[in-house]
Amino acid sequence: MIHISSHSLTGEPLFHLRAGDASYVFCVFHGYLLHLYCGPAVGEDDLTALLVKVGHDSVVPRPADTPEGWFSLDIAPQEFPVYGTGDYRPSALMVRRADGSAATSLRYASHEVLPGKPVLDRQPATFAAPDEADTLAVTLRDPGSGLIVRLYYTALRDLPVVTRRAAAENPSDNPVTVERIASASLDFATLMEPAELLHLWGTWGRERTIERTPLAHGTVSVSSRRGASSHHHNPFAALVAQSTTETAGPAIGLSLVYAGNFEIAADTDPFGSIRFQAGIESTDFAWRLDPGETFVTPEAVLAISGEGLGKMSRTFHCLWREHLCRGEWAERERPVLVNNWEATYFKFNSEKLLAIAKDAAACGIEMLVMDDGWFGVRNDDRSSLGDWFVNEEKLPGGLAPLVERINALGLKFGIWFEPEMISPVSRLFDAHPDWALGTSGRDRSVARSQYVLDMTRPDVRDYLFDTISGVLSSANIEYVKWDFNRNLTEAASADLPPERQGEILHRYVLGLYDLLDRITAAFPHLLLEGCSSGGGRFDPAMLYYAPQYWTSDDTDAMERLDIQLGTTMVYPCSSMSCHVSASPNHQTRRVTSFETRGHVAMGGAFGYELDLTTLTDEEKALIRHQVADYHRFYALINRGDFYRLILPGDTVNGKTHRCAAWMTVSEDRTEALVTFVVIRASIHPVYFLRLAGLDPEARYQEESTGAVYGGSTLMNAGINLTAARKGGWTDGSSVVMHFTRVS
Ligand code: GLA
Repeated sequence: MIHISSHSLTGEPLFHLRAGDASYVFCVFHGYLLHLYCGPAVGEDDLTALLVKVGHDSVVPRPADTPEGWFSLDIAPQEFPVYGTGDYRPSALMVRRADGSAATSLRYASHEVLPGKPVLDRQPATFAAPDEADTLAVTLRDPGSGLIVRLYYTALRDLPVVTRRAAAENPSDNPVTVERIASASLDFATLMEPAELLHLWGTWGRERTIERTPLAHGTVSVSSRRGASSHHHNPFAALVAQSTTETAGPAIGLSLVYAGNFEIAADTDPFGSIRFQAGIESTDFAWRLDPGETFVTPEAVLAISGEGLGKMSRTFHCLWREHLCRGEWAERERPVLVNNWEATYFKFNSEKLLAIAKDAAACGIEMLVMDDGWFGVRNDDRSSLGDWFVNEEKLPGGLAPLVERINALGLKFGIWFEPEMISPVSRLFDAHPDWALGTSGRDRSVARSQYVLDMTRPDVRDYLFDTISGVLSSANIEYVKWDFNRNLTEAASADLPPERQGEILHRYVLGLYDLLDRITAAFPHLLLEGCSSGGGRFDPAMLYYAPQYWTSDDTDAMERLDIQLGTTMVYPCSSMSCHVSASPNHQTRRVTSFETRGHVAMGGAFGYELDLTTLTDEEKALIRHQVADYHRFYALINRGDFYRLILPGDTVNGKTHRCAAWMTVSEDRTEALVTFVVIRASIHPVYFLRLAGLDPEARYQEESTGAVYGGSTLMNAGINLTAARKGGWTDGSSVVMHFTRVS
């Protein structure tokens, strides 16, 4: 709901957005948009009393036209601070005019309330029906240049979520250049506690590791300049208090719905005010706006929790599941798949795939995914990207006969593509060397022996659409794994004039969106899985097209505990693709039991990634059980409320816990599934686990033992797991417990 009143200082509008149980409040003050509050809900009070009136001196300029001696843009908490007119903190906007100057001043012009959430353009964004959200659009204008900026705020009615976007329009007769533009900026003047930035860092095989960094005076930020949201930092950060835990304290999560270069930063000023900003990273960004043109930012999403990280995560999970993921597979039960990558790597042919498929069918697995190596002359990673035609030496007769035989076994068929790439050794590169991103007179860097296609070019996208569509139409292909295995370098386009080369990194992302839009529209029944050398571009923009994402190339169950639990900070289990792979694991050489590998992989969109033909009968029988369990618990795992109970790095009683635990609870709290993993066992270990999210008044029965417990007992006293495992606790052992409400 959006409540608009006039405040007591100047009589200008005060906007109070109520989103679920959160409030977001800001006002107009002499035309400036000032931020007042973002956090757990507050009443409809005139919050302008919160404005800090610090005396200023020569280091703090003030606008010439405001009567209040205390008012300075360098101190005032703002909604969309601009460069060059007295606020020296990081700007949300910097625009260079035709005369070369960059000073801007934005003043309130008007506002309007729109039902639901308007679709502003074709970039990925959350959606909401008219009865699910309200949108406030505030129009600001620069009196000097005429530049217009529209800020869009959407408040979800049932979730503590406010989304923001900005649109900059150039109504003048001269071009201007947008050199920096944030999607959201807000100043927390009242946070008071020592604050931290919680973020997710990583690299290949170690994606989304949770880290909490104390804020310091100056800027603490996470970003990507890799041309993709990246393994290295996820486009998310949360402002939390030092005392914030999973269950208590403030946690304001800020996520950018963007697959490209981003920056999320928290800047602390001398008065303790924290500017929290998210947007496109501006290092190599310069967007020319010709007269009449508008630039619309990606969407930033705020998930607001006063009750710890767990609630913030559940808010994001629900938002992405219900207001971002699209298509029939967003809701539909996904097939349990077997992927041949770690089973065969590049060494396969139709017969090998069919042998795996036969065993898969016998185990109850529902889809075979043929990974890299089926096209061109690709027998290793040094050639053929871009040559999307079937290698008939491996697959005689092409895809149709293979897929027919796989379908006849009762399995669906899926296929791997890496559309955005081109191998220097390929027919495509021979024909179109200028289709690869690159700067003339400079060698292109290689990564995994490949270059990146210039996705800003319509002809490149047409080629990809035609060739991918051709393959997808040639057989009954029901799934695509969309990979992206290197980052961008020498990002220049032979197709754009010099004054637009600063647009390439963003245009690349828009080109990617365009291709994804066309493919998903042309093949509406396709299940798309995102991938980028594992989870390198695991972000909300990709989830808009692909409801599941390959979480990491590290498939070791113990390593996956950190990766998957870190991922759940922002993303729902339904989006995390998790596979049981071989033991010893191919990445770490660690040996883990089949049972535990299954328990961990069941934390998300479940599947297998190993050569089924080499398994024992006992292991195959286990697969049948695992697949059956996964189906039985599908709704709980994928749509239940998620609780992190123990993180692998948690410290309890001064000792490092060498275990991990999580659980999901059905929305009506009648059922729960708890997973507990011992990473490293010790002598005579004692394990208690306190559960969460249950009905304290209800009684629950645990399926394997038949024991009945009170909900409050399970949550407050906990359950004693010391003897919960037959054979005792060993390194990498685990249990899954299913609780059902009995009264
Ligand atoms: C990437 C993916 C893997 C696999 C290979 C194929 O590394 O993350 O899952 O598809 O590419 O080359």
